[in-house]
Amino acid sequence: ALVSMRQLLDHAAENGYGIPAFNVNNLEQVQAIMEAAAETDSPVIMQASAGARKYAGEGFLKYLIQAAVESYPHIPVVMHQDHGQSPAICQGAIDLGFSSVMMDGSLKEDGKTIADYEYNLDVTRRVVEMAHKVGVTVEGELGCLGSLETMKGDKEDGHGAEGTMTMEQLLTDPEQAADFVSRTQLDALAIAIGTSHGAYKFTRKPTGDILSISRIKEIHRRLPNTHLVMHGSSSVPQELLAEIRQFGGDMKETYGVPVEEIQEAIKYGVRKVNIDTDIRLAMTGAIRRFMAEHPSKFDPREYLKPAREAAKAICKQRYEQFGTAGNA
Ligand code: G3H
Ligand code: 13P
Ligand code: NA
Ligand code: ZN
Repeated sequence: ALVSMRQLLDHAAENGYGIPAFNVNNLEQVQAIMEAAAETDSPVIMQASAGARKYAGEGFLKYLIQAAVESYPHIPVVMHQDHGQSPAICQGAIDLGFSSVMMDGSLKEDGKTIADYEYNLDVTRRVVEMAHKVGVTVEGELGCLGSLETMKGDKEDGHGAEGTMTMEQLLTDPEQAADFVSRTQLDALAIAIGTSHGAYKFTRKPTGDILSISRIKEIHRRLPNTHLVMHGSSSVPQELLAEIRQFGGDMKETYGVPVEEIQEAIKYGVRKVNIDTDIRLAMTGAIRRFMAEHPSKFDPREYLKPAREAAKAICKQRYEQFGTAGNA
């Protein structure tokens, strides 16, 4: 059944686990997530970005997720709008039937100018007001995703802060977070701790100076009852990079967020963990391998099947690793 995200996050908090939120853009990704959830008995958060809506079209996304809900009636499913850039976009998602929306007021509507605190408060508060009336969950964001190695926002996927950022912008302040939560009454808070979107997060396996799990602990100490959200939380498995390179891909050395760091964060209030890139890498590796090994094949089903299997394997791992399994 389609459920609100609040319901799932409350259960996760009561029972001390985290829930991966997977980005979806097409049929095979939706199927992979649902098969993984069914096999591990996990609740599901599927999220669609603005880019996903542009790629697939709103109607197709809505009915793909609807099909997932109907095909797996025993699994709770959240349909979440990822990185809504304005109250109007969030309203549109609510009208379309999403059960959860993110108002990302850390950036202005252009998706690249860092917003001031009052702007973020205002837009987030407005979305909470309209969403809560109809039982829809709201995620907000305080602090800006970006790298503590380069002090730059993430521009890889077309959104993210422009220019050089300050430490204050790159790490969410616990006191300001407390003020933000009490004045907006949001359901979940996305925080900045040094992660960024895409495959190129860190130039080395991250240590505490560039991936601040200690900041999560400080925020959780100040806000023990707030559900925290980690964006940019793909782990970028080295074996997937190796597979992509082995079969003709060109990806430079890079590191993601280690699963054990996410597991530690889950002990300190992180309930939703956003993952897109790992599924992209898994599908690309599988397709490259298939194409290289079967140069005469041309039926898309034949290469999308291993791609779907590879995506499913990632989802199953994360459901097990985050403690989501067994909680559907
Ligand atoms: O917000 C980041 C997600 O990875 C979505 O990426 O905007 O390319 O769909 P996208
Ligand atoms: P990754 O790029 O690390 O998968 O992050 C996805 C994300 O945060 C979507 O909002
Ligand atoms: Na989101
Ligand atoms: Zn994100």
